[in-house]
Amino acid sequence: MLQRSIGLVIALLLGLALAASPGQAGNHSLDILNPTTSYNREVGQLLRWVLGFAAVVFVVVTGAMVYVTLKFRRTGRETREPVQFHGNDRLEVLWTIIPTLIVFIIFGLTAQSMFKLDRLPAGAMTVEVKGWRYWWDYNYPEQGVRNSSELVVPVGKPLVLKVTGGDVIHSYRITSLVGTQDAIPGITNRIIVTPEKVGDYYGQCVELCGASHANMRFRVKVVPQEEFDRFITGAKAYKAAPPADPNLARGETLFKANCAGCHHIAGVSPQNLRYPDLTFFGNRTTVGSGMWPNTPQYLEPWIKNSPGMKPGSQMPAFPQLSDADVKALGTYLLSHKVAGVDFNFPEDQRY
Ligand code: CUA
Repeated sequence: MLQRSIGLVIALLLGLALAASPGQAGNHSLDILNPTTSYNREVGQLLRWVLGFAAVVFVVVTGAMVYVTLKFRRTGRETREPVQFHGNDRLEVLWTIIPTLIVFIIFGLTAQSMFKLDRLPAGAMTVEVKGWRYWWDYNYPEQGVRNSSELVVPVGKPLVLKVTGGDVIHSYRITSLVGTQDAIPGITNRIIVTPEKVGDYYGQCVELCGASHANMRFRVKVVPQEEFDRFITGAKAYKAAPPADPNLARGETLFKANCAGCHHIAGVSPQNLRYPDLTFFGNRTTVGSGMWPNTPQYLEPWIKNSPGMKPGSQMPAFPQLSDADVKALGTYLLSHKVAGVDFNFPEDQRY
């Protein structure tokens, strides 16, 4: 019994120690302790403080319990009832003051971090982030560019993400980069972060928002400044040319008949802020907003029946489209992109 208790205590302590150790180098998805931003370093530091106090409390409380259980256990040699006593002023004052002190220390550290992280760095770039069921829209007001589903930002540049909701309450979380902000219709929350490492960061909506809440994923592409500038320059100048290829022309006719009412492509269909912008669709690395690789293999069934792939998807199914139609549409959509930029990252640069 005693051995088993000691084993359990050691196992729990080991677990705590592991949780408090820094994340492993290399490939680690969704790691709040990934020290690639000042935000995560700060939060990681706070977490270690909290876990440290938790470990001390655990050892003291469990130690006291084990001690009392052993010391006052029934031995069978008792001749009368043990001496009875009531209360212990010194102990009671101690176990009130010490936890209160711990709470105040954690509060002070947390408040200090919150003020520090909310400071607006000079020269920050603003991106407006809007959550819709079940995708994210991005607007770069300073650059005059809109892009949907994947956020592209330059490395080393301070960012202010102004987060809001379009329909219901969502929550924007990029675990390995920065914490969470709620995306609430009519309210703008801000996330301040300076990405320090080029890579592909996995994001996820973390507020229950409907049938595909769990599928409301996204990617943040942190790219070199030079590549970001090329993307923005290309994006601003982008205007789809009338397709010369007959297959692309067929795709365009189908797009205009079936998709243009909702989806904007510069030079083809009107701006519609309520639905994903497809102007730079060929630059996306995922289809279904962060769900699958953006290849014809996933894109074609997505066009044909998106609610079948992602429950609650607001895009209707198109059973009337033939396989050849869907193929032409897919090829057409993938043809829209800023040339010379690639937002695909190797496995070891995904966080
Ligand atoms: Cu959007 Cu959950």
